[in-house]
Order: sequence, then structure tokens, then C-alpha cells
Amino acid sequence: MTLKYVNEILTFDNIDIQELGHTIETPYYLYSENIINRNVDEYINELKNIDSLICYSVKANSNLSILSLFAKKGLGFDIVSGGELQRVIKAGGDMSKIVFSGVGKTDEEIEFALKNNIYCFNVESQGELDRIETIATSLNVKANISLRVNPEIDAKTHPYITTGLSENKFGISQTDILNTFKMISNSKSLNICGIDYHIGSQIVDLEPFTDSAKRVLSIINELKREHISLSHVDLGGGLGISYNDELPVKRGDYVRSVVEVFKEANLKIIFEPGRSIIGDAGILVTKVIEKKNNKYGKNFIIVDAGMNDLIRPPLYNAFHKISSVVKNIAPTDSFDVVGPVCETADFFGKDRRLSANIGDLIVIEDTGAYGFVLSSNYNSRPRVAEYLVSKNNVACIRGREIFSDIIGDEEDYLE
Ligand code: LLP
Repeated sequence: MTLKYVNEILTFDNIDIQELGHTIETPYYLYSENIINRNVDEYINELKNIDSLICYSVKANSNLSILSLFAKKGLGFDIVSGGELQRVIKAGGDMSKIVFSGVGKTDEEIEFALKNNIYCFNVESQGELDRIETIATSLNVKANISLRVNPEIDAKTHPYITTGLSENKFGISQTDILNTFKMISNSKSLNICGIDYHIGSQIVDLEPFTDSAKRVLSIINELKREHISLSHVDLGGGLGISYNDELPVKRGDYVRSVVEVFKEANLKIIFEPGRSIIGDAGILVTKVIEKKNNKYGKNFIIVDAGMNDLIRPPLYNAFHKISSVVKNIAPTDSFDVVGPVCETADFFGKDRRLSANIGDLIVIEDTGAYGFVLSSNYNSRPRVAEYLVSKNNVACIRGREIFSDIIGDEEDYLE
């Protein structure tokens, strides 16, 4: 599929990564337009005869060139900040296909979004609703509103990425949602357009998706009885990918099943996929800078990427496959693959069977989603470059940072 050994050398979307090592400095992220297209097209094909909108969740990977691919395919965008809105504008996204999610939108962000005529705000609280109403009134515009309901469903994923439980900060509870909708229907500056929910991320089973869909359908029916009509239901994102040996429900089966639940409601269906579109379309390429072992028999491969470049393993104990670019026929030892950052949490994988020598290239797989976007300058390390394989060519889509990017304007404040 994406990664394949050809004559013992690892290729990514037909690109020889060893060869690339002669021209590109590690570490770097590499994405594949082919894989992105394949993933998006599965959603598009499944939904082609259905009143629907796919709003790519920008937070998963917000590189402008990636966003521009989605804009050209006619996708909408799920944003969570003014910064993400600015990115979508720069990438040529269609403002009438933008949904604005998130529990803490500032007044400035709300005003900026209203002035840009985004499609809809996914509202998470009464307070937020009041602020949107005030700002819309002052601008003399009507704001399209969807209310995010918390369906109280256990998505059975990592606790840090579950969002639909009663203890989570997200959404409005089912007991309050009807009254909140009723209040909007009396507003001159707010226009009810939908209901939304999102139960979590990296969900591999179908059941939490269909269970939550059924709960939301019953709320839609209740609203109907109260003569509150909606134009859409927004299901959020959350579909998982296979990082190790998980067998996630297939994109097509997932889409078909939830569409089926909402059929009787006769509403436009919005999806907000992130990881299931971009996750397996990216890798992080890094180089072995040192090897060591300690007296307890632990072996370490130290690479030039660190937890500041990919934080998923320490943050969520997330598993990513790790492969050496030159195939090891029979790796004999197990290694912890770690970075140079001064933290014990700076690891990519533990006890991995691998053989790689100093100077060898190593690939950390399935890092297209929540990889670069979560990177930082911790330890004063420049954020890495990003490249895209497009039509058998490798193009830079973001250069590696230099020291002046790291210090910003700090020098101006030196006494
Ligand atoms: N919509 C909403 C409202 C969301 O909060 C999210 C993700 C998505 C859509 C997209 O979800 P996806 O299809 O990508 O699962 N950093 C974590 C994941 C955090 C997800 C946050 N919300 C990770 O690396 O696993």
C-alpha cells in the first residue's frame, strides 16, 4: 500500500526514501496526495447521492497545501479558531462550507467568522450563544447556529480523546438542549440551522457511532414535535485508523450506517473527518544519531526527531509502527526508539525489534494526523519541514524552521 519495501528499500507512495535522504535533511514529514485522495474519495463516493457536506477537520493537519487539496475537491472545513479560519481563507476554501466548533470561541473570533460569512457556528453553551447573538446584532447580521449536544456515549477510546461523556467539557446536555433551541427560535439575530455532536477520536467500533446517532435522532424528533425544524445534522469526526493491529470499521460502512440512522430525519448530513482522511497519508522520517545500551540490558536507538516533533506516543501512549528504511532481514535486538529531548517521555516506541546503525534512516508511520500540528519548539528545536508526494514528485510544502523563527521577537525585549 503506502509503505512498501522494493529491493530491500522502503518506498512511500513509490518514492524511494533512501534516495530522498541525499537531498532532504531529516527529520521531516512526508505526505502522499494519492493516499489523501483515496481516503477523501471513499467519503465522496459513499455520499454522492446524499444531501451531505464533508467538512475536513483542520486541526488534524492544517498545512496550507493540504487544505488547498481539500478546497479543490469541494470539501468544507471544520475549524476551531480564528487562526484555522485564516488558514482556510489562504487555502481558497469556500466560506459557505465552514463550521466553527470549539468550547472557547473569543468575541474577536466570532466577529471575524461572522464578517467572513461562515456557514454555521457549532455552539457549546448558553453563554457562547448569548455572545454570538450580541455580536451578530451589533454587526446587523444573522448568525447560523447549530447546538452541540453531548450524547453521553462512551466511545471507548483513550480518555484524553473522548468527548461525549457527561464529565467532558463539550456540548450541551440532553436535558437542556430543547430549551436552548426554543430560546434561539425567538432571536432576531440567530438562525437555527442544525444540531451537532462529536463523541471522540480514534474510534474503531461501529457501535458508539450508531448508538449516538440514534440518541441524536430522538432529539431531532422531539424538536420536530416542538415545531423546531433543522436543516442539518453534523456528526463530527472520530473514525479511527489502524496504527497497529486494530481493525477499524471501514469508511464506507461507517458512512452508510450512520446515514441509514438519520434517513427518516431527511436532513443534510455533515461529517467532520480528520484522522480517517489524513492519518495514514503521512510519515515522519528521522535519522539514527546514536545508539547505546545500559547495564540493565536496555538498548536505545536515539534519532534526530523528538517528542516536540511528534507527541502522540508520550501524550496518549499511542502506538506508531517504526520501520528502518533499509530492510532488516532478521533484527536480533529490541530497542527503545527515543529522541534527543531531555525528558524520559521522549520516546516513539518501546522494545521494538529493529536493526539500524548510526546514520540510517527510520520511518515513524501513520503520522499524517495530529503529528506536525502538535509540534513545538521545546528544547529550542526548530519545527521540521513538511513535504508532499504529488504525481511522483516530492515538493516542499513547509520549510524547516530556522533559529530566528524560534526566538521570534524575544531580542527586542532584552534590557
Ligand atoms: N470534530 C470535532 C468537534 C473534533 O473535536 C474533532 C477532533 C474532529 C471533528 C476530528 O476528529 P477525527 O476525525 O480526527 O478523530 N490529538 C488527538 C486527537 C484529538 C481529536 C480532537 N478532536 C490524537 O492525536 O489522537
